[in-house]
Amino acid sequence: MNTNWDLGEERVKIEKASEYLSERFQERFQNEKFEPRALIICGSGLSGIPDKLNKDKLEPLVIPYELIPGFKRSTVPGHSGNLVFGIMNDYPVVLMSGRLHGYEGNTIQETVFPIRVLHHFSKGGIKTLIVTNAAGGINSEFKPGDIMCIYDHINFPGLAGLHPLKGPNFDDIGPRFLALSDAYSHDLRKLLFQTHNELKMDRPLHEGTYFFASGPTFETRAESRMIRILGGDSVGMSTVPEVIVARHCGWDVLALSLITNVAVIDHPPSGKIDTPVPMDYGKASHAEVLENGRIASKDVETLISTFVGKLHYRE
Ligand code: HPA
Repeated sequence: MNTNWDLGEERVKIEKASEYLSERFQERFQNEKFEPRALIICGSGLSGIPDKLNKDKLEPLVIPYELIPGFKRSTVPGHSGNLVFGIMNDYPVVLMSGRLHGYEGNTIQETVFPIRVLHHFSKGGIKTLIVTNAAGGINSEFKPGDIMCIYDHINFPGLAGLHPLKGPNFDDIGPRFLALSDAYSHDLRKLLFQTHNELKMDRPLHEGTYFFASGPTFETRAESRMIRILGGDSVGMSTVPEVIVARHCGWDVLALSLITNVAVIDHPPSGKIDTPVPMDYGKASHAEVLENGRIASKDVETLISTFVGKLHYRE
């Protein structure tokens, strides 16, 4: 937690970053009208989403995080760090290609800073957050490669005090005590399931509760069992802080977990037996997460880009 959190200073940082984006917009779009309506945060293995932008309609504007005042860079292999403005299926969007995690050493405010900046910059034009993540499967029905639409979450670090809205509140943006019982839009989830049916996608699309763990370790067996008992269906190290701040900004949220591995739930083999199941059976690895993310990513990208093309109904 950043103990030097100061709302005034934070506003100045947000305004500075937003001014920088305005200048880049002015340079690039001049007379063209381009106003992004949705932010898509591309998680692990979903870095190909920028290829779904219609370059013939509008050459995307790519702004590296390191050029934007106050933005931190992503340090995770497999994530880049660019804001990309463009058109996806006739809908104007901005992509965060590469996201910021707390486990990289960013404060929780730094991980949500891009949302605050884009809210300020778009002057209320952005109304939707679409966010994807890689996650471990906790629900016993889930297999690597499945997709889960998030309909609720457990903010474990948040319940213990590591919360993105802790500290002084931006009263002009959202309430001090934000309700989260409606965090994941029912309309958007319906539209996603409809899109999945229309595409006749074989890859299963589940619905469930995402458990946010701060990472960077994968869970122990006992932790995975605890998460299952508490009602988590998937577990990952991101998304929830961004979702909370997006809801605080009044945006609607659609969030997906790509199940990249399944949790090991059984107790470890006992030291009292000679020939146990090997200890490393089912053990999670970042390589497995990236590989399963890569295999499923084409479908997730198709699902998301088709879905985005249907967002016009909300205008
Ligand atoms: N646990 C936490 N985060 C993850 C996992 C996992 O098993 N897989 C991908 N991200």
